[in-house]
Amino acid sequence: MIYLDNAATTRPYPEVLATYAEVSTKIWGNPSSLHSLGSQASRILQASRQQIADLLGVMPQEIFFTSGGTEGDNWVIKGIAFEKAPFGKHIIVSDIEHPAVKESALWLATQGFDVDFAPVDRQGFVNVAKLAALLRPDTTLVSVMAVNNEIGSIQPIQAISDLLEDKPTISFHVDGVQALAKIPTADYLTDRVDFATFSSHKFHGVRGVGFTYIKNGKKIMPLLTGGGQEAGKRSTTENLAGIAATAKALRMAMKEQVDFAKKTSQMKQVLIQGLGTYKDITIFSGQEQFAPHILTFGVKGVRGEVLLHAFEEYDIYVSTTSACSAKAGKSAGTLLSMGIQPQLATTAVRLSLDLENDMSQIEQVLTTFKMIYEQTKKVR
Ligand SMILES: Cc1ncc(COP(=O)(O)O)c(C=O)c1O
Repeated sequence: MIYLDNAATTRPYPEVLATYAEVSTKIWGNPSSLHSLGSQASRILQASRQQIADLLGVMPQEIFFTSGGTEGDNWVIKGIAFEKAPFGKHIIVSDIEHPAVKESALWLATQGFDVDFAPVDRQGFVNVAKLAALLRPDTTLVSVMAVNNEIGSIQPIQAISDLLEDKPTISFHVDGVQALAKIPTADYLTDRVDFATFSSHKFHGVRGVGFTYIKNGKKIMPLLTGGGQEAGKRSTTENLAGIAATAKALRMAMKEQVDFAKKTSQMKQVLIQGLGTYKDITIFSGQEQFAPHILTFGVKGVRGEVLLHAFEEYDIYVSTTSACSAKAGKSAGTLLSMGIQPQLATTAVRLSLDLENDMSQIEQVLTTFKMIYEQTKKVR
């Protein structure tokens, strides 16, 4: 099997599953319980929080555990909008956000908030000047992702941070789900960022666990009210085993980040060169200013699903980008936001690499592609 769908999810590290099993077996007390089983669980919870905070270079009280990227994004977008509603009801999100952000923003629009979508250029980068032009005195939130999940473009977070430097009343949220442990943290977790969302299963952790960075002192309305866990900001009994496993995964993935970037960019380069020799190919992802591991391309006249299933016949697993949400009334995908014609956008397939892949697999993918390309001659 050749798994090239690591932006969708990653294989949990065996050590991560071992931690999960160990904590579930031995430390299953509720961290809120007053007895010793509870204190033991509470110590693991705080140690995990400390570890994650250290790895990100932030303070432990700035890390809040969630159920993943979708919850984190929903929480920040809705939580900030409502928290700050007395001061303003205008929010800006980029036009290429994950649906977890975009749909939250669209929902807010049905609740009396004003929402603007900051446009991107032909390469898939937020246009900072156009974003600046959207700012208003009643803007309370700007949300721009670090790495786009569909084509891998790294967004100009530092430039947006500079833009917002003298506008302290605007909260700045970064969806860091596709960035963490893939590109340097400093590239997107700038001093100006107030909120950032992360998800464990994208870095060899476990499903259904994530964490949100909330800068010290920043207020946000909770989505989940109840027993007051997570400093009253996110109630529910903590998924301790998942949290400990996430801390473990992050430690392992961060240790490998430099190697990850080196090896995946080499593989991506070979793929780009190999695919570039075919005439009916469009490559949507670049290399400069793009995440090292994401490569999205299409074959003229061949729908992405067709290519995906053709690869699957050879035990190679890729993805269509989630772009095809171009259904009537739905938010457009990244490629459409970039101004790519809808017909061309439907050809897109995404290969997302990992350290677990190697060059021999890449050669095999290119050899397989040659056969598939021949097979699709009739439709091209
Ligand atoms: C950029 C981005 N944000 C948010 C999410 C949602 O994360 P989760 O699957 O943890 O809910 C994803 C998942 O693909 C993503 O790519």
